[in-house]
Amino acid sequence: MIHPIYLYGSHVLREKAAPADLSRKEELKKLLDDMVETMHNADGCGLAAPQIGISERLLVVDGNDLSDRYPALKGFHREMVNPEVTFESEETSEYNEGCLSLPGLDADIVRPKRIKVRYYDADLVEKEEEFDEFAARMLQHELDHLDGIVFTDRARPIRKKMLAGKLTNIAKGIARTSYRVKLDK
Ligand code: NI
Repeated sequence: MIHPIYLYGSHVLREKAAPADLSRKEELKKLLDDMVETMHNADGCGLAAPQIGISERLLVVDGNDLSDRYPALKGFHREMVNPEVTFESEETSEYNEGCLSLPGLDADIVRPKRIKVRYYDADLVEKEEEFDEFAARMLQHELDHLDGIVFTDRARPIRKKMLAGKLTNIAKGIARTSYRVKLDK
């Protein structure tokens, strides 16, 4: 099922999401399926549960559409329940980011280049994996959503200033998108 995507300005995007209850295995699986469907419908490469109004620690990422530019992303697809970062490299990298909750906006964001994440997959099997480059980038963006952080929070002050007007508009529900959106205050 495709869900509407909550826009910047929505309260749920600013909450610290709660750990998912692992005893609800079938429900979590369905939710992750919905998230993947919602992400693909919006031509996104990542989605966190708060973006569909659910304040739980779930995220999905899919790099296949980006594999022309980043060949290492071919086949990169993860669904994570209760992910936790267990390592961040000191070395950083900078990429241009965007977000389905902030349509039409982008900014260059500096983040650790490599990270290690411990998580449960969609079958609730515990895993720990290291990610680098764009995969690490996508995951850190989604992990931020679980803590109520959006990418523009991490933009350089001058870029933030340039985006201020657009951010205000989105928070008023003024956004052009090909997918259904929602605003909850
Ligand atoms: Ni996002």
